[in-house]
Amino acid sequence: MRKAARAAGAGLLAAFLGCGRPADLGTPPDAAVPPVADVSGQVAKTDLAGGAYGDPLPGLSANEQSRFLDGRRAFALNESNLTGLGPVFNAISCTGCHDAPPALGGTNQRVEIRFGRRNADGTFDPLTSRGGTLLHDHAIGAVAGFTYVGETVPAQANVTAGRRTQPLFGLGLVDATPDSTFRAIAAYQAARTPQLAGRAASVVDPGTGLAVVGKFGWKSQIPTLFQFSGDAALNELGITSPLFPDEVCPGGDCSLLAFNPLPAMNDPDGKDVQRFTDFMRFLGPPPPAHAGGPGAVVFESIGCAVCHLPLIVTGASSEPSFDRVAYHPYSDFLLHDMGTLGDGIVQGDARPQEMRTAPLWGLSVQGQMLHDVRATTLAAAIAAHDGQGAASRAAFAALGDADRAALLDFLGSL
Ligand code: HEC
Ligand code: HEC
Repeated sequence: MRKAARAAGAGLLAAFLGCGRPADLGTPPDAAVPPVADVSGQVAKTDLAGGAYGDPLPGLSANEQSRFLDGRRAFALNESNLTGLGPVFNAISCTGCHDAPPALGGTNQRVEIRFGRRNADGTFDPLTSRGGTLLHDHAIGAVAGFTYVGETVPAQANVTAGRRTQPLFGLGLVDATPDSTFRAIAAYQAARTPQLAGRAASVVDPGTGLAVVGKFGWKSQIPTLFQFSGDAALNELGITSPLFPDEVCPGGDCSLLAFNPLPAMNDPDGKDVQRFTDFMRFLGPPPPAHAGGPGAVVFESIGCAVCHLPLIVTGASSEPSFDRVAYHPYSDFLLHDMGTLGDGIVQGDARPQEMRTAPLWGLSVQGQMLHDVRATTLAAAIAAHDGQGAASRAAFAALGDADRAALLDFLGSL
């Protein structure tokens, strides 16, 4: 169905949105809102026809294309002791984790460890003084006067969580979607399906000090791709830059930075951080789904589509590739209380049990699912939904054979 909508252009999107809308999701907010709009009312100018994995967005200018290629080179470039790697780190380049399959920018499924301590009174201690919450399991080794070693989870920690590397396809479209849209999606859910309603994470933009909506990361802890680039350069590679000037203290012990062989800012003009951002902004979404039909209807009728939202439209932009483009992430990028599926970590605005809805575009190439790769089959991933996802889990379990097969077919086509 999605393919058909794309092939025939905007007109058929009406059919796409209208199809199978079950009574429990309510009627569209306002019959006057044109159907080529997302639930926030943002009207699409174009519907994105995705290319192959790893392709840039269609319609980039020559300048944008060259920034994409330049960014891709930086994204794959190995850091070393000479360029500022470490002292502690997790990999030597972004592609150490966001590698093929299926293309550069994807995920090799590497799982990182987060840790912290849940106190008796229920409060969460990120154990900052012990290097929490992100574990850095590599280090640069012997330097003049000292040998750096990878971190280990401290004895004080009583919460540890695995976090799978997320694929990056299409995230430029999410970045180009205004905060107001995510707040409107949350309001739409609260009005129509309050028991499933998510909330937009409110996080601080370190550049401006203002509260903005977090959309990236498993806990929607980061607001923009630019910030994720700076954050990942620091926390994954050990590369300091203007927005993230302070080196990670190994195991939380900042005195150990006295031996840092490259104490000066590693990316002083922020050019590498900008290049990583360019690559991710211009990286196209996964290819369009192959199937729709009855499975897509089941997906809506048992509530999956409330959180795994099939359609969002970017804001107005002077760059045509981002200007009111309809895209199909199968996520609302909001936080939901997932009960026992929550990872126990407090991060950004997210409480221990809250997780961001995992986008389902590209699902067919995910061998391992959920934040800690606990599921290797679709049925197991659905069965792990708890909290606000429990009703959908139960509805899935109660499906007849034909509906169940149709739903799994549909998911396998994403
Ligand atoms: C050692 C593995 C590793 C390396 C190296 C790495 N990442 Fe990641 N990346 C992850 C993991 C794990 C997550 C999930 C983070 C979380 O929320 O806990 C992630 C998430 C992301 C996201 C958010 C995706 C989404 O769906 O919201 C972006 C953007 C990103 N990484 C960019 C980068 C960039 C840019 C670099 C290089 C500077 C980089 N990463 C290097 C493991 C890695
Ligand atoms: C209340 C919101 C909500 C509902 C309803 C919901 N999900 Fe999810 N889903 C999530 C969240 C949040 C995650 C990420 C959880 C995690 O890994 O911690 C997720 C993860 C997934 C994943 C794993 C994706 C990956 O790449 O790891 C699949 C598959 C999935 N959901 C399918 C479904 C299906 C099918 C339904 C309907 C039966 C459904 N979900 C209903 C919120 C929801």
